[in-house]
Amino acid sequence: MRKEERFEFNFTEENRLVDEIGFNPYYQKISSGAGLYVRIGNDDYLNLASNNYLALADDPEVISAMKKCLDKYGVSMCGTPVACGYSDIYETASRTVSEFLGLEDTLFYPSCYQANMSIFRSLARPEDVIFVDRYAHSSLVEGIRSPGCRIKPFRHNDADHLESLLKSSGAFEVKFVVTESVFSTEGTIAPFDELNELCKKYGAIPVVDDSHGIGTIGRSGKGILEEKNIKDYSGIYTASTGKALGISGGIVSAPETIINYIRYNSPGLIYSTAVPPVLLAGTIRALEIIGKKGALFSERLTANKLKIHTALSSHGYDLASGDAPICSVKTGSNEITLKICRSLYERGILATPFIYPSVSRNKGIIRMIPRIDLESTHLDHILRSFANIRAENPELFIK
Ligand SMILES: Cc1ncc(COP(=O)(O)O)c(C=O)c1O
Repeated sequence: MRKEERFEFNFTEENRLVDEIGFNPYYQKISSGAGLYVRIGNDDYLNLASNNYLALADDPEVISAMKKCLDKYGVSMCGTPVACGYSDIYETASRTVSEFLGLEDTLFYPSCYQANMSIFRSLARPEDVIFVDRYAHSSLVEGIRSPGCRIKPFRHNDADHLESLLKSSGAFEVKFVVTESVFSTEGTIAPFDELNELCKKYGAIPVVDDSHGIGTIGRSGKGILEEKNIKDYSGIYTASTGKALGISGGIVSAPETIINYIRYNSPGLIYSTAVPPVLLAGTIRALEIIGKKGALFSERLTANKLKIHTALSSHGYDLASGDAPICSVKTGSNEITLKICRSLYERGILATPFIYPSVSRNKGIIRMIPRIDLESTHLDHILRSFANIRAENPELFIK
């Protein structure tokens, strides 16, 4: 390949489609926050795209806690935590997260992507093996490549397949089993209780990324460990604070020995500017709110999801069957997916299209977050829009 061609953006099919359809859903220019409505140009759009499940990104209590923190700590620590200091708010935030999850200790990274990329580099060695769910998030996939050890993918959410691989994996020094809790494209939830038991049986260390689970699943919104009633978790837990918690950043929680080891060995932590205190203040307040209202939030998310699912199914839409509070409409080809998304947009609704190559060919999906602040008028608007799109564009729905 010529040097000049190397960085040419040339997704031919997607470009052609975007031109033909006259709508590009990606990198929308938004002039508001991620509230119930987002402003694009001169119009407001019902925001089903942001992962602001609990409306905490624009919660007045969270904002006020963050403003106070800005006044006290300023904007940035301007250095890595190991070299320039680990302020008192890190300790408070670490305790708050650990207690919320029922785990021993917690570290903060600037993002969960960075956390997932960075922890395996310090924890795994070439003589180890990592078993990973085939659909694991890009950050986990990138992360597990870094130590240069054996990688053995297991079939999506398939504990039996994992066990057959574990059985025949004798000679490795340390074994890790890596998965997400909620796979957010379709909203499936990992059978993590089973995976965790298999780890105990075969002496492996479980690693779960609960980015879409924290705040959204479990009876009181505590995430995958509560959802699967896991009380004595001794593996590694990661999550983004940039989804249901409404902030930005990455959490790694685990037993103290593992956290201490990561603290001094993880390049993405020790060579990167510390998470700004203001984000930790937001995280603390968000968790306090979930601590008080988590059960109510969970009920509301589930009820909204159920209403959308029931109504859309009755209009002939095919919905993904995952149990997490995510609404994913199976749409088919890239073209159909983008056309339906454009029709929603024309009706004032912003949703997320997943098209090939992000998903398999002709397995396009439109994802909507059934956020807790959706009222019946919003739900009616969503349902009416989908019904009208189907009635007005029958050609999009012929199998
Ligand atoms: C499962 C999962 N892990 C990690 C991330 C990355 O999180 P962050 O945005 O904090 O980097 C995401 C975000 O898309 C995610 O869905």
